[in-house]
Amino acid sequence: MTISEIFETMDYGVAPESAADALAWLVDQGDRFGHFIDGAFTEPGGGFESRNPANGEVLATLTQATQADVDAAVKAARRAHPKWEGLGGHGRARYLYALARLLQKHSRLFAVLESLDNGKPIRESRDIDIPLAQRHFYFHAGMAQLMEDELPDREALGVCGQVIPWNFPLLMLAWKIAPALAMGNTVVLKPAEYTSLTALLFADVCRQAGLPKGVVNIVTGDGSVGEMIVAADVDKIAFTGSTAVGRRIREATAGSGKSLTLELGGKSPYIVFDDADLDSAVEGLVDAIWFNQGQVCCAGSRLLVHEPVAEAFHAKLRARMDKLRVGDPLDKSIDVGAIVDPVQLKTITDLVASNTAGQTHVAAAALPVEGSFYPPTLITGLNPADRLMQEEIFGPVLVSTTFRTPADAVALANNTRYGLAATVWSENINLALDIAPKLASGIVWINGTNLMDAAAGFGGIRESGFGREGGWEGLSGYTRPKGTSKPLKEVSAYTGDGTPADPIDRTAKLYIGGKQARPDGGYSAPVWGKSGALLGHASLANRKDLRNAVEAAQAAQGWSRTTGHLRAQILYYMAENLSTRAAEFSHRLDTMQGGRQGHKEVDAAVRRLFTYAAWADKYDGQVHGVPIRGVALAMKEPVGVIGAVCPNEAPLLGMISCMAPAMAMGNRVILCASEPFPRAATDFVQVLETSDVPAGVVNVLTGPHTDVVPHMAAHMDIDAVWSFGSRDLSGVIEKASATNLKRTWVNHGMARDWMGSAGQGKEFLAAATEVKNIWVPYGE
Ligand code: NAI
Repeated sequence: MTISEIFETMDYGVAPESAADALAWLVDQGDRFGHFIDGAFTEPGGGFESRNPANGEVLATLTQATQADVDAAVKAARRAHPKWEGLGGHGRARYLYALARLLQKHSRLFAVLESLDNGKPIRESRDIDIPLAQRHFYFHAGMAQLMEDELPDREALGVCGQVIPWNFPLLMLAWKIAPALAMGNTVVLKPAEYTSLTALLFADVCRQAGLPKGVVNIVTGDGSVGEMIVAADVDKIAFTGSTAVGRRIREATAGSGKSLTLELGGKSPYIVFDDADLDSAVEGLVDAIWFNQGQVCCAGSRLLVHEPVAEAFHAKLRARMDKLRVGDPLDKSIDVGAIVDPVQLKTITDLVASNTAGQTHVAAAALPVEGSFYPPTLITGLNPADRLMQEEIFGPVLVSTTFRTPADAVALANNTRYGLAATVWSENINLALDIAPKLASGIVWINGTNLMDAAAGFGGIRESGFGREGGWEGLSGYTRPKGTSKPLKEVSAYTGDGTPADPIDRTAKLYIGGKQARPDGGYSAPVWGKSGALLGHASLANRKDLRNAVEAAQAAQGWSRTTGHLRAQILYYMAENLSTRAAEFSHRLDTMQGGRQGHKEVDAAVRRLFTYAAWADKYDGQVHGVPIRGVALAMKEPVGVIGAVCPNEAPLLGMISCMAPAMAMGNRVILCASEPFPRAATDFVQVLETSDVPAGVVNVLTGPHTDVVPHMAAHMDIDAVWSFGSRDLSGVIEKASATNLKRTWVNHGMARDWMGSAGQGKEFLAAATEVKNIWVPYGE
């Protein structure tokens, strides 16, 4: 375009950023890369090409890691771990700070290399990806510094395997590596096969920072290398990518004892109310769905517009879309760059081509003749069940439908298997803040979108995965409670000679939906005391009883909306009622378990109820000061319906230790009572019945755990499963949980001291809550 043409059309000129330094850096490396293992680059081996998606040119050749490479990387990380952790928080903080400084120093090189490799506009890599990656290292230098004072009961996990996607290559690396290193772990990271170059430049930066060898190891390759890392001798897997692969990793790590966090896909709603500033909402959409070509897990890809303004809004949106400039990612005046790879371009093209519903508007922008480009696209008039309304497209394609009332908007927004993020656009603060808590998502942005910061946890619920990255909550994924635990001894039921302790038949029923219920199968089993006396019978629950309990728990959703104050009162009331019957309960425990320790267990159970009554209105969220015009309210919300397999060895205290924190935080629970000693739980039903606990909030099942637990773990309407039984069902539970990617907290056959401090506290409260970060405008 000539200068006079630019004057004529008032269009933007071309403002290319030079690729010279980045290309020179690639040449300096010989255009071929090995892995970064134990502080040095390995000899390049057989591999694959990394191409610039904007023009198809080969940028470098990368090495496909072999099993031996992965083993060497894991070994190096394992060797480096004790010294790295031993450096202490301040020692590690100095290195993290050095890494942050070096990322800043080389920021232009990183930005250009990122745009060359990924196809994202240089404006984005320069102003968003790279600065946010730096911020993550600065923030976590601080977390390392504060660890000993602020997290005195936590320690590093060990070696973390980390597998990341191609949409934010350096930023995802920072999200994974910075918190892991800060907490004293060492890492083996695999970048995505399309975009490994900035990770290799980062490896170079680790050398420049003098990072001890083996602390960071980077291996390149495709999904099969990811699989090798998942199977390797690591203590944790942190994964960001597609839900399909996340599910496979959940299954592959089941029962292994490896800690796992999954940050998966989304189909995030973008809700525009009729009182919204429509022009701002249109501008927001440019950031929501055309940022990074829509290849963003939290992209506002599902537009929900209030009916009265839908037509006007869509018209404004189309006009704005037609002004978007698509082209060379290194041109500073383009809005939309290249799709990461022709494979992804084909996925997007095929998905859109498969749709025949609604009306499609394709932006007027001229596309470059070569390279992997897709035009900004809007599809209006879709129905909520249409495939494109439900499936993640992961491209610059926005789908839209309308709603009539705020309640409609919430129902539509939540009509998805995902739960990563949501955007609300309204000038009415009452409306926006009324909607935010009702949205099933890990993040809500009000009058803004796609905002991210190291101080605010990022992550989702449902099939968007579990765990958070960033913030204080992100650290729990890289630490574990200090101390060693012993293997749990199997506790078996006693057998007897058939003499009833009491001539009246006492068959305890199940407790479902606030009522004592006969078991569906109609069977019960005798419960014998240590002396051999028959203490009564307990019902044998099956999967239908579980189903009824889940329905009852789902129907008790009102509990999750009650105040902490109310929940505290009910927990205190339960404590009072248990205390009144302390003698009876301790006698029951003694006859079931033998010995004379029952009174201690009852006393501890009463105290525990008091503890969680106390916490019910005190386990507050936080307000994060984020470096954007606003604050992020980190709200603690209930997880939903929690299924808990109670410990066998502490039939009353163990059950209350599971039930009370879950209830205190607003969850509904389905408890599988102690298998050998179920009568403590069935007696406790009478306490529940006299303590104003609403129907369905607590449900009690008895019988062999193995009859119910696999179904519990696979159930689509259960949000989390905890397991403390003495038969190690961890593998079964973790594997089956992949159905809806529910959270799991299992003992892997290790014992817990229920009488001591390990039996209660913040670990339980954290497991009973999800942190939702609600970003609201605040201040100037
Ligand atoms: P992907 O989930 O296959 O790849 C992400 C990472 O996982 C890459 O490093 C890949 O090599 C690795 N990987 C692949 N298979 C693996 C396995 N079995 N075990 C361990 N690691 C494995 O994503 P892909 O194929 O690149 O993109 C496909 C779709 O995934 C996209 O269209 C998009 O819908 C979604 N996606 C979501 C992302 C997010 O941030 N939530 C990021 C990237 C993709």
